[in-house]
Amino acid sequence: MTASTPRKRLFIRSWGCQMNVYDSGRMADVLAPLGYGPAEGPEDADMIVLNTCHIREKASEKLFSELGRLRVLKLAKEQAGGRLVLAVAGCVAQAEGAEITARAPYVDLVLGPQSYHRLPEMVARISRASGAVIETDFPVEQKFDFLPDSTTPQGVTAFLTIQEGCDKFCSFCVVPYTRGSEFSRSAAAVVKEARHLVAQGAREIALLGQNVNAWHGEGPEGRPWTLARLLLELAEIPGLARLRYTTSHPRDMDEALIAAHGAIPQLMPFLHLPVQSGSDRILAAMNRGHRADDYRRIAEKLYAVRPDIALSSDFIAGHPGESEADHQATLKLIEDVRFALAYSFKYSPRPGTPAATAVAQVEETVKDRRLQEIQALLRDQQDAFNRACVGRSCAVLITGAGRHAGQFAGRSPWLQPVHGLVSPDLGLTGLTGQMVTAVVTAALPNSLSVRLEGNEALGPPAQTPRQEKAAA
Ligand code: SAH
Ligand code: SF4
Ligand code: F3S
Repeated sequence: MTASTPRKRLFIRSWGCQMNVYDSGRMADVLAPLGYGPAEGPEDADMIVLNTCHIREKASEKLFSELGRLRVLKLAKEQAGGRLVLAVAGCVAQAEGAEITARAPYVDLVLGPQSYHRLPEMVARISRASGAVIETDFPVEQKFDFLPDSTTPQGVTAFLTIQEGCDKFCSFCVVPYTRGSEFSRSAAAVVKEARHLVAQGAREIALLGQNVNAWHGEGPEGRPWTLARLLLELAEIPGLARLRYTTSHPRDMDEALIAAHGAIPQLMPFLHLPVQSGSDRILAAMNRGHRADDYRRIAEKLYAVRPDIALSSDFIAGHPGESEADHQATLKLIEDVRFALAYSFKYSPRPGTPAATAVAQVEETVKDRRLQEIQALLRDQQDAFNRACVGRSCAVLITGAGRHAGQFAGRSPWLQPVHGLVSPDLGLTGLTGQMVTAVVTAALPNSLSVRLEGNEALGPPAQTPRQEKAAA
């Protein structure tokens, strides 16, 4: 049985980070030889995989409410003489495997992120097992060595995991416990997979890792390679127009990587670089290993080598011990650096992490208010960045049809979703995967409207938050 003649239907739902999205694709790849093809939705599936996230409390609560709904579906299928395999994968499976089987005994499989290559064997074991089949060890063999080559095309923009796990142990974070210690895939494996993705139609690849810029590997003749060198290699792949990488840690932003942003045209002028806080005291309590000024310096250097670079970040409001002055320091850092996009979260205590048992927890109402203040400032900066793009021309990668008739969807160099009308002379056919020049006509809260300029030469890049600040 091959992937082209599916007998059984598989539905995968992903929460959490982009690595879970990538992993979901790899789970589909590994199940294809067993006869599983994509289902339209949960209702017509023979197997459902919930790929979960444990990063904040709300993320894992979602799993249990979803499981409650699926139980009804599973029972109905069984009463009709059918069968529905329910699997829980991802970081909640890793952290709370026992709790899942206790609270939801109807779950058939529980597997952590390091066990996906074992899925076929686990599926085979279900009928023999009396309870759920569980795999939450960190297997000695590396899962990447045992996963098949990716078979499911991802489209024009693709993810490629190059690094997994984390040894940084930030006070608040579950990732080192759910994903295990840092591991880098080999340069050869990454280049091979990137070529394969391009052959399947990818024009933009985002390299993924919990600490992607900690990636290191062996190049030809045993020379040590870092991410900067790997990016240079990937930029050589014909047809690969754009490269990105995420998520990075400020501590691993080495000089070569900063310089790469000025030297590799395919490397897009957008970088997600989480800082979490602008207070040195809180950064130390978080075990981040850098100060606020280190972050400011990295931003300066990036703006120097790539003046049109736009920065993005993550912030946590109300980490234990955070005073009003610490919070103000975060607002100050946001004002100094200016972000094109950012994510901010209320501190959420996670079982097993040091911050969860710290005595100086911040009151809920205070956390709420601080989060609102951070978000208001970030929102203003995002709006200002998007507005500054209006009237300028930029390269757009067309990713497919837009939501409305006659519309295309695409992406700007700064990761903004873009949409515009297909011009009659171009038509939508053949447009997907093309890089076109477009003028930005309007900025909406989370996207840009553009007008195609055909194949004219690229215009100047949009004003970045940095340039806008300098002009003010
Ligand atoms: N590896 C990345 C981030 C991984 S988690 C880094 O080092 O920055 C994604 C984001 O979730 C984090 O950047 C952080 O802002 C947020 N986060 C993680 N744990 C959290 C917690 N306990 N409460 C609130 N936000 C959290
Ligand atoms: Fe979590 Fe910190 Fe590791 Fe990022 S660097 S994954 S925040 S422990
Ligand atoms: Fe969530 Fe695990 Fe990613 S906790 S953010 S799915 S690494």
